[in-house]
Amino acid sequence: ARKIIIDTDPGQDDAAAIMLAFGSPDELDVLGITTVAGNVPLSFTSRNARIVCELCGRTETKVFAGADAPIARTLVTAEHVHGKTGLDGPELDEPTMALQPGHSVDFIIETLRREEAGTVTLCTLGPLTNIGLALQKAPDIAPRIRELVMMGGGFFEGGNITPAAEFNIYVDPEAADIVFRSGVPIVMMPLDVTHKLLTRKDRVKRMAEIGTAPAKAMVEMLEFFERFDIEKYGSDGGPLHDPTVIAYLLKPELFQGRDCNVEIEVRSELTVGMTVVDWWHVTERKRNAKVMRDVDADGFFDLLIERFARI
Ligand code: BDR
Ligand code: CA
Repeated sequence: ARKIIIDTDPGQDDAAAIMLAFGSPDELDVLGITTVAGNVPLSFTSRNARIVCELCGRTETKVFAGADAPIARTLVTAEHVHGKTGLDGPELDEPTMALQPGHSVDFIIETLRREEAGTVTLCTLGPLTNIGLALQKAPDIAPRIRELVMMGGGFFEGGNITPAAEFNIYVDPEAADIVFRSGVPIVMMPLDVTHKLLTRKDRVKRMAEIGTAPAKAMVEMLEFFERFDIEKYGSDGGPLHDPTVIAYLLKPELFQGRDCNVEIEVRSELTVGMTVVDWWHVTERKRNAKVMRDVDADGFFDLLIERFARI
């Protein structure tokens, strides 16, 4: 199984991504979950990650708390989408499993130094603070990372927290800048992809039909999560952003994109956090990311439902 670290700020869609990974033990070996402040403050994301582990019966999972604020800015959160706890929706018990001692950044560095080079994949579902800090503290880890698959950014689709910026990149643009300059092979799942993956009624109904406790809790989470987009945009559900990262590892053929240069805007007040994607290769700048744009939405939901049913 492919070794992964999931770096996350749960978030209902982060929870769905973690569940997808737990439902795929033949393909994915979750070495650890590292939390970061993002959708909600760190105390909640660290709580929520453990709740998801317990919900899935995976209490042996190592969960580490990480950065509680971006590298150079004040934290911006997204309770307007995720609710006060970040996992609003179902009734959830407080977690009983403990956080691991130590910081996410150190776990990431130690794991990459310990495991054979080129075997560990980083899956990032939130602001890139922990990864940016790890690369800053230990530049030797960069060539050891097999691949970094991230949910973040948007280009033709624009932004979701400002007109120009997607939330994960906007919260910590300095960290994103470090990551995109690091030379690590990047796969980027932007809003251009995730906005095609709506939690339509028929899809959520299929999840509910699984009938297990984790599937039921997930349905209640998604019913809370989607209300923001439904009320604000009249859309056919909420966009299931973060599970794209895990789905890519399981079935890359569901996604289509191009190798592009991507740079992060860190200076402009108006467009800070924008992912400037050279989709048309108008510059000679180095192609530093595989940027996805299209997805087989039905195939994605089939995969999700198949794997949720295995938990
Ligand atoms: C991203 O921001 C968060 O609200 C979601 O969990 C996702 O990671 C989408 O912009
Ligand atoms: Ca997230």
